[in-house]
Amino acid sequence: MLKANPNYLKLPGSYLFSTIAKKVAAYKEANPDRTVISLGIGDVTQPLPPSVIKALHGAVDEMASKEAFKGYAPDLGYDFLRNAIAENDYKKRGCDIAADEIFVSDGAKSDSGNIQEIFDEGCRIAVCDPVYPVYVDSNVMAGRTGTYDEKTERWSDVIYMPCTADNNFVPDFPEEAPDIIYICSPNNPTGTAMAKSDLQKWVDYANEHKSVIIYDAAYESYISEEDVPHSVYECDGARTCAIEIHSFSKNAGFTGTRLGYTVVPRDLKDADGVQLHGLWARRHGTKFNGAPYIQQKAGAAVYTAEGQAEIRTLVSYYMENAKTIRDALVSAGYTVYGGVNAPYIWLKTPDGKKSWDFFDHMLEDANVVGTPGSGFGPSGEGYFRLTAFGTHENTAEAVARIKRL
Ligand code: MLT
Repeated sequence: MLKANPNYLKLPGSYLFSTIAKKVAAYKEANPDRTVISLGIGDVTQPLPPSVIKALHGAVDEMASKEAFKGYAPDLGYDFLRNAIAENDYKKRGCDIAADEIFVSDGAKSDSGNIQEIFDEGCRIAVCDPVYPVYVDSNVMAGRTGTYDEKTERWSDVIYMPCTADNNFVPDFPEEAPDIIYICSPNNPTGTAMAKSDLQKWVDYANEHKSVIIYDAAYESYISEEDVPHSVYECDGARTCAIEIHSFSKNAGFTGTRLGYTVVPRDLKDADGVQLHGLWARRHGTKFNGAPYIQQKAGAAVYTAEGQAEIRTLVSYYMENAKTIRDALVSAGYTVYGGVNAPYIWLKTPDGKKSWDFFDHMLEDANVVGTPGSGFGPSGEGYFRLTAFGTHENTAEAVARIKRL
């Protein structure tokens, strides 16, 4: 008898950003005269850097030539890109990561959703709360999260680690040791970042408890403070306990172009000594035919001297927005976090308003779209996220509208 995967049927509602998109589309249809500004989903607004565009054109021309044409890409990635990543993102930072420990993919979202497949269904996951919804939802799909309680908005088998102003957005160690620990720093959605000393404690904890840290470093290029690590492998002992996920979307504008990578060190093993590197390679080989050559050439251009200078300009552009939003909200009396090492501002809703009520208020009265904090988990209730990925003009207009509320 044909039956749908029952794990999927457990998922409440649609994916957070699809729900928001539907609400905004309905509002726009009912109010065609209003100009709605989106500071909701963290999607970039600036064009791809010139050296990336040049590399894309060059790669397209190669594909048009009989000599240079490429068919299937190697499923783990082309050496030219894996070597550039190993050199620039790791060796230059003093991290011991080899090119063949880097798996090129079509993006960090896919990798952060798929990586759970290489672990046993019985593994217990711990997530920071609030959390990027992909980590939890993908584990729900895998049948690892137990039952959902609509009242508390929690899954029975997930360990939630609150990250709030009270603990300076650094999770406390849970009572029960998890098998898989998701950490995103700089953090989506709170826009805060962990200091190296705090991350080192988590690496030590994971090694001691034989857990694995899945470290999402998608926002590392936004780090401005010295004591914030750009990679988990800056911490001693991370090779035996951490997987790291990276994106080209936020630093180089690849949200629509798609490229990312994941690092699985060869020293990382399960309790029986099974190398997780081999399992992830097996998964890539079976389910993935490699990121397109054209995108990988574009990714390699990011690591050239010009590419690096251009992405610094892009990051500065968005971080100016972060400052605009932070300064305006603070002067309007809001309590705000983030926006220093990340392109997200996390604000406390005024008068204890529920996150979704504040979302409606912002949409209807300021025509500004943000993301309700409760969409990221129970500890996000009473908070709201704004992204710095807008244009300068829209960001300035959005904050002016918010200040008039
Ligand atoms: C977000 O808005 O949280 C991001 O766009 C998520 C993502 O990168 O998938």
